[in-house]
Amino acid sequence: MIETLRWTDKGVEMIDQTRLPHVEEFVLCRDYQEVATAIRDMIIRGAPAIGVAAAMGVALGAQQAGDDTFDSEFAEICATLAATRPTAVNLFWGIERMKRLRESMSGQPLAAVRARLVAEAQIIHDEDIAINRRIGAHGAPLVPDGKTVLTHCNAGALATAGYGTALGVIRAAVEAGKKIDVFADETRPFLQGSRLTVWELQKDGIDTTLITDNMAGHFLRSGRIGCVVVGADRIAGNGDVANKIGTYSVAVLAKENGIPFYVAAPISTLDLTLDTGDKIPIEERAASEVTAMFGHKVAPEGTKVKNPAFDVTPNRYVSAIITERGVARAPFEKSLRELVEGK
Ligand code: MRU
Repeated sequence: MIETLRWTDKGVEMIDQTRLPHVEEFVLCRDYQEVATAIRDMIIRGAPAIGVAAAMGVALGAQQAGDDTFDSEFAEICATLAATRPTAVNLFWGIERMKRLRESMSGQPLAAVRARLVAEAQIIHDEDIAINRRIGAHGAPLVPDGKTVLTHCNAGALATAGYGTALGVIRAAVEAGKKIDVFADETRPFLQGSRLTVWELQKDGIDTTLITDNMAGHFLRSGRIGCVVVGADRIAGNGDVANKIGTYSVAVLAKENGIPFYVAAPISTLDLTLDTGDKIPIEERAASEVTAMFGHKVAPEGTKVKNPAFDVTPNRYVSAIITERGVARAPFEKSLRELVEGK
């Protein structure tokens, strides 16, 4: 299985997702600032992976914080990591979990605190893989046999600690013996679909076809797509889903053509503090991501640009939300709350 990131004695190592698919290189973040930069620059990306990286960043910062200034430095570490990307709620979830652990150990020797923070970050990492396997097990029965699954962006091993959410569902369906293939939207402007999803599915030997984003409607109408499965960056209490820009268009086209639209995400992606998706902060990224493709300019100088990194799909387009605790369907206010409360 692809290793997205790992804790080492020297710091946090992560596969550089800006260089894939042609260069498979691990970068070493030696301090928490380098982890923050890696998240901001999308060396590591994808909601669950960001959450794990942030937790490791907190643990790394805590190793290097001075004894006399530990708690003020700890607060600064958490604030710096939290300021990297605004939409994926897993980032804040990971940091909060580390903060709670530190608070629960107040008064204990700092050596013990530091050791527990490292252990906790590794637990979060390992739990994420187990969670994705459970998401896969819940989702696989929903995937129609003998058809094509369309996905958008990369919600795979690379977007998590391993196995993936949406791609976890696809992997589990293949492992269950279903004869499926995948259509991957290329996902402009950052090309997570062509660079990352195709790369990791090819490694697994899963039959994958790359399409540009504007081809999705054509194929959703063609009859060959059995379902759409995507990940999520944040899901509001009513089941509105923030995910990579372009997801909303795919969801509308899926509904128009009677094709189920599934969202696969861990419980940590739910944000029940928000009643609707309108309140989800949407990250706006640099214009250069749109006006240039990997250093090559594709628009005239002075072009005005909008570059929202995510959009919100209203709950009426979502057929089901697949989590590690089970599958939620409308009305999502009730079904999501029940999953969170463990009913
Ligand atoms: O900007 P990115 O690449 O971090 O966006 C990633 C996505 O939108 C994914 O679909 C989402 O985080 C789910 S990953 C399991």
